[in-house]
Amino acid sequence: MKTKIFAISMLSAALLLPCLGNEPSETEFSLKNTFGDKFLIGAALNTRQSFEQDKEGVKILKQHFNSIVAENCMKSALIHPKEDQYDFFAADSFVNFGKANNMAIIGHCLIWHSQCPPWFFVDKNGETVSPELLKQRMKDHITTVVSRYKGRVKGWDVVNEAIVEDGSYRKSKFYEILGEEFIPLAFQYAHDADPNAELYYNDYGMNVPGRRDAVIKLIKSLKQKGLRIDAVGMQGHMGMDYPTVEEFEKSMIAFAEAGVKVMITEWDMSALPTASRTANISDTVDFQKEMNPYTNGLPDSVSEAWNKRMKSFFELFLKHSDIITRVTVWGVCDGDSWKNNFPVRGRTDYPLLFDRNHQIKPFLKELAAENKKK
Ligand code: GLA
Repeated sequence: MKTKIFAISMLSAALLLPCLGNEPSETEFSLKNTFGDKFLIGAALNTRQSFEQDKEGVKILKQHFNSIVAENCMKSALIHPKEDQYDFFAADSFVNFGKANNMAIIGHCLIWHSQCPPWFFVDKNGETVSPELLKQRMKDHITTVVSRYKGRVKGWDVVNEAIVEDGSYRKSKFYEILGEEFIPLAFQYAHDADPNAELYYNDYGMNVPGRRDAVIKLIKSLKQKGLRIDAVGMQGHMGMDYPTVEEFEKSMIAFAEAGVKVMITEWDMSALPTASRTANISDTVDFQKEMNPYTNGLPDSVSEAWNKRMKSFFELFLKHSDIITRVTVWGVCDGDSWKNNFPVRGRTDYPLLFDRNHQIKPFLKELAAENKKK
């Protein structure tokens, strides 16, 4: 009797299987196939992913993304730790990963005040470098890195975060030593090293009017000098209370009107309370608890609000897909995100498109379904 029941259930399972197979499964749905006709769908890769150690992350990358950017391994402190020493190990593997998977590879970033090795600004006597020496170092750095990946990297974030909110130039070492000239020089060196590579200026808080206007001025002055600039990267580091969709949209349109494409380059949205700029964020246990409220998962109400807000931004990007060429998220799964440690260390945040169990967030499924109906 038992054998008979077993045989019947095996038979019904066999009959059912093909039907189940017709259901679109989690593994078949793909962001790049759904939205790839609008713009590139990118993600920042960490080294566990470019070395293919994070198997689940890699699976998601291959299934959903057609563009990648290096989260850290191409920054000057890592790729050029000493004046006479480059370390291409991680960057090579990142580029090979992109090539093997037919992805648009974005280089990030050539000139940035942060994660820049201290030797860059000090001469052999321990003094601050002269403008001439700094130019030479910038040129060597940019030429070496860009030439190595010539023809393989589609575009470079040439200069990152050079303008502050009030529209003035950040008082970085580059600016202090070379003045505004360091930006056109960087674009020139990058273009000389790979004339076919796209070149971008990338910054955060681009919705802020002061920065927006200054970036527009910068785009125009680069163009007036006959330099190549293809796009502006609007880092999309967002919170639940900033920026507004309207402010963000204003900047997107203003950049496009200045004659460049727009890229959403580092998209993530913290689901946690925004840390006050004035609070001493590492001080008290109470503060830590208050600022890290969802260690065991997001409450439904917060998750719904987060998905709603993300959806409205994605809708904005779709609406302007004529000017947007790429939307890149800053990491793959929530557990990978820098937001778990910034601006408060050790929090549990939920800022990305895939959760800690590698599941896609609901707003994307909703958008995909809506997109299909159109
Ligand atoms: C900036 C940089 C990125 C990254 C993030 C934080 O936005 O452009 O490379 O360092 O900060 O991770």
